[in-house]
Amino acid sequence: MTPSPIGLFDSGVGGLSVWRCIADLLPAERTIYLADQAHVPYGPRPPAEIAALTHAAAAWLLEQGAKLVVIACNTASAVALASVRQAWPQALIVGMEPAVKPASAGTRSGRVGVMATPGTLHADRFHRLVERFAGGVEVHTSFCPGLVEWVEQGWLAGPEIDALLRRCLAPLLAAGIDQLVLGCTHYPFLLPAIQAAVGPGVTVIDPAPAVARQVQRRLAAADLLAPAAAMPAQHQFYTTGEVAALQTALTRLLGLTGASVRAASLQIQAADAEVPA
Ligand code: DGL
Repeated sequence: MTPSPIGLFDSGVGGLSVWRCIADLLPAERTIYLADQAHVPYGPRPPAEIAALTHAAAAWLLEQGAKLVVIACNTASAVALASVRQAWPQALIVGMEPAVKPASAGTRSGRVGVMATPGTLHADRFHRLVERFAGGVEVHTSFCPGLVEWVEQGWLAGPEIDALLRRCLAPLLAAGIDQLVLGCTHYPFLLPAIQAAVGPGVTVIDPAPAVARQVQRRLAAADLLAPAAAMPAQHQFYTTGEVAALQTALTRLLGLTGASVRAASLQIQAADAEVPA
């Protein structure tokens, strides 16, 4: 019998920054990746819409037999992780959250920056995270409209991206941050451009490796880790948008050629956004 896959989804290709860490850490695991490119970007959408899309994507992955679902999108996690867990109490669901905790633990200046979408930064979940883990540390936030779209196109460098990053990050640098949290899964693909924009004095934090370790822990605890295999694991990629666009992005972002990419369509119904605890 083919072992069940790990399911991941994002509004688009951003979650591939999490996928690559999971594929590196757990090479025996099959994966199914869903890019909801018909609806990217999620960031500027109202919470009820983000929740409905997130529930539809989680339902789709569970229908495909995913043994664990990674919501590889900060925006979807910030808005709907709790309600997805409530809707499928038996399922293993791992979400993203901006790495405010390690940034606050690591800062020497007492000021940290978070780059994320408006959907993430406006969510109650983000405010609770800051209250809980950033005691005594100033948290400065920025969203960079347009960046997600660049990454969707597979553009990771160039003068327009550098100018946009300089503009968005200037207030954070002026505030004296020494840690910058990448709070959107699209941004790690821009790490060289972001590091160049903030300079060597700022530590840039990508939470994807920590999420991959969390997936490993959750699967081990449930005794669901795939046995070591002689053959490389199979990976399937689905998009609600253009198959050719995802194929191109896989090559540009991950150097994957000839990957299996298919079309998917989601059943979208109203769902609750996260309610304040
Ligand atoms: N990659 C997503 C995130 O981590 C969302 C980007 C978007 O669709 O706006 O927030």
